Amino acid sequence: MLGADPSQTLAENYRRFARGEAHGKSPLYEELREGVAQDPEILEFLAQQPRAKRQPNLLLASVRVLFGLQNSYGAFRSVVLEHRDEVASTLAARRTQTNEPARCAVLLPVLCQLTQPLALLEVGAAAGLCLLVDHYGYDYNGHHLGGEEVVFECAVHGDVPLPERLPEVAWRAGIDLEPIDLDDATAVRWLEALVWPEQTDRLERLRSAIAIARRERPRVVRANLLDRLASVASQAPRDATLVIFHTAVLAYLSAAEREQFARDVTAIDATWISNEGPNVVPGPRVRGATPIADSHFLIARNNHPVAFCDPHGRWVQWLK
Ligand SMILES: C[S@@+](CC[C@H](N)C(=O)[O-])C[C@H]1O[C@@H](n2cnc3c(N)ncnc32)[C@H](O)[C@@H]1O
Repeated sequence: MLGADPSQTLAENYRRFARGEAHGKSPLYEELREGVAQDPEILEFLAQQPRAKRQPNLLLASVRVLFGLQNSYGAFRSVVLEHRDEVASTLAARRTQTNEPARCAVLLPVLCQLTQPLALLEVGAAAGLCLLVDHYGYDYNGHHLGGEEVVFECAVHGDVPLPERLPEVAWRAGIDLEPIDLDDATAVRWLEALVWPEQTDRLERLRSAIAIARRERPRVVRANLLDRLASVASQAPRDATLVIFHTAVLAYLSAAEREQFARDVTAIDATWISNEGPNVVPGPRVRGATPIADSHFLIARNNHPVAFCDPHGRWVQWLK
């Protein structure tokens, strides 16, 4: 029988992802997630997987790399039920490692407020695409800066301090449990499979960012962020502003691990920038402001809320 999920049932989780996250962004993934939420057989299959392997994005990307994009819920459920073992092995072998360089657009205004040059340390860096913030172009409601090779459009709401120039990055490094090797075609295929199907422009920008990363080779250390934070941070040059940042990472840690990370990061002489789902980071809570969309992240600087933003970097809403 399907066991109860500690926070919410699997069905509720899939329905929440369908209505809150995929709605308006991916009609197909909204349909597939709604379908799973109402399908006792698929829910039973998911309940047999380890808890961390039941996520909607992981299931959808696994089926996609194995059997291609399924264009209806009927086709999707058939391949899952006919190939349970293969799907289960891919779920076990993979993790949700969406690396979304467009998130740089929401980080940039915060980074540009700091004394330059910067030493950037990203925890949960995946392939390191968000470490290359100074290599991309940006368009904030027509305010352009940076290069032309890849341009991230980001709608601004409120008094966003729009930068006039890109930040100066003196040093950069990442930490990830499983850094993505961009020379490995299978790893790149997985990264691409995590982009939702209708978002072809997002896929194009991801491919351009990957081309830049293949040239720039940002260093990503293979480690748990709880183990190597201080030692990697100690490698940064002293004459640059050390920034420790993360986007869409702490949700993968337990509550106790998040508390531990918050203690570790505040013990280091650095600016801490977090960009995570609301209530994920212990500490920052917003009062007296409402995000323009239900699906949003919260950016905080040294644990003080700074802005709401789109989880994929498409808009930023500055807080007073
Ligand atoms: C959803 S991805 C986000 C990647 C990137 N920050 C971005 O915004 O595009 C989460 C990343 O965090 C990494 N991660 C999760 N838990 C970690 C841990 N305890 N230590 C290091 N990395 C971790 C995963 O391997 C994955 O690459």
